[in-house]
Amino acid sequence: MDISQLKKEAGVKACQMVENGMTLGVGTGSTVAYFIEELGRRHKEEGLEARCVPTSIRSAQALKKCGMEVCDIDKVGRIDLTVDGADAVDPKLNGLKGMGGALLWEKIVAENSDHYVWIVDESKLVDALRGKVCLEVVKFGSGKLLKQLEECGLNPSFKKGENGPALTDSSNYLIELDLGEIKDPAFLANDLKQRTGVIEHGMFLGMVNEVIAATQNGIKIIK
Ligand code: A5P
Repeated sequence: MDISQLKKEAGVKACQMVENGMTLGVGTGSTVAYFIEELGRRHKEEGLEARCVPTSIRSAQALKKCGMEVCDIDKVGRIDLTVDGADAVDPKLNGLKGMGGALLWEKIVAENSDHYVWIVDESKLVDALRGKVCLEVVKFGSGKLLKQLEECGLNPSFKKGENGPALTDSSNYLIELDLGEIKDPAFLANDLKQRTGVIEHGMFLGMVNEVIAATQNGIKIIK
């Protein structure tokens, strides 16, 4: 099975957790696209209704396109269930997110959810977190912040868009750090969070309740 088939399997499996009338957080990315597709199918064929809180403009558009109700996070109470993708997940279920640039809204939605689930293909399961960590940063002084991160050896670069630096849905910039193995994720997360100009980082530590991983040997549920 190729990666996109695995992503689809994870998305379809997660959609089985959605019940009629739920308030549902909907993540962002290529795996979540399959989850949204399946929501649309269930809406059409089974009359499934859910109030969806999207984590990006992209996901909001996809949800609307398949007929799902889209709600502002501030217009709903607690979110019953949020389903999102991830870039890497370690055995303690700490993860990296945000390579699709939606980490800030994703974290806000996750923190307001009663149950938080990631859907991944097996390539995302890692023994330790390493590689790219994404930061959403304010534009003002972002060049200075980049230098500061460079001086700390964190290998930062601005994420590029089509015409210059990429912009998030909140019109902020994104900085990617290119790291080796992250020996102490909690220390790094804390350090990043405290830097002036950093709005949020893509380290999601101890947040997820379960991971639905699609592997060549079937679906693995990790809790
Ligand atoms: C979006 O900003 C990200 O956090 C995605 O959830 C993550 O990058 C996973 O995306 P894919 O499902 O496209 O790999």
